[in-house]
Amino acid sequence: MNGRAPLLSVRDLVVRYGAITALDGVSLEVGEGEIVAIIGPNGAGKSTLLSTVAGLRRPDAGGISFAGTPIAGGALEGTVRRGIAYVPEGRHVFAGLTVLENLELGATVRRDRAEARAHLESFLDAFPILRERAGEAAGRLSGGEQQMLVIARGLLSKPRLLMLDEPSLGLAPKIVDQVYELVTSLRRDGLTVLVVEQNAGRALAAADRTYVLNAGRVRLQGRSAELTGAPDFDAAYFGLKD
Ligand SMILES: Nc1ncnc2c1ncn2[C@@H]1O[C@H](COP(=O)(O)OP(=O)(O)OP(=O)(O)O)[C@@H](O)[C@H]1O
Ligand SMILES: [Mg+2]
Repeated sequence: MNGRAPLLSVRDLVVRYGAITALDGVSLEVGEGEIVAIIGPNGAGKSTLLSTVAGLRRPDAGGISFAGTPIAGGALEGTVRRGIAYVPEGRHVFAGLTVLENLELGATVRRDRAEARAHLESFLDAFPILRERAGEAAGRLSGGEQQMLVIARGLLSKPRLLMLDEPSLGLAPKIVDQVYELVTSLRRDGLTVLVVEQNAGRALAAADRTYVLNAGRVRLQGRSAELTGAPDFDAAYFGLKD
């Protein structure tokens, strides 16, 4: 954080699925222009956190504010209009639509049609493979290409905050490098990024700050460089402490 009000602020967030408490009082902040990672093992609550910030779940307790405005419990569309792009885990392309149609869907919330079209063209320049295959069904792309497509689609809503859930899952290391090079270059352009990963090494390398989540609670947080190799890191990540 840099002393200014955070762009995203999550306070004492509790989310339950019936008897399961997925988030048990999570607080975190993301400053404008930061890359922040949330890492943690299976079932830690990482995806629940992102989907709740995105407006897909209503918190059982706690609050979320974005750019100073409370947003908890809103709907996904409102979230996008506020400037949050959410790329869920699993690379959900519309498999039967073309690559271009998938990208166009990302821009539907925008009123600046001409600028949106130019923005789309800039993504086709940035990812020649997407231009090359623009007319093909998105379901035919490789996993890495689909990951780039869903990130580009999210970016076409022109967000202030990009939230990525496990962007490296199931991708070859070289492709993961490309995904993270993209994330780093986006931040250079002023974007704020909140990324969830089980791949702790990748996340720590890319993020300014990292939160370690386990069983619905933040167990450790700090500057990524300081968490790497910290003596209590394994205990926090693997849930060996209370
Ligand atoms: N739709 C659901 N219904 C019931 N329980 C759920 C649901 N989604 C998640 N959970 C439970 O909530 C907890 C947190 O799950 P979540 O998917 O948020 O974790 P995660 O950290 O993203 O895990 P992973 O690394 O496997 O993606 C887990 O115990 C999970 O089983
Ligand atoms: Mg998950």
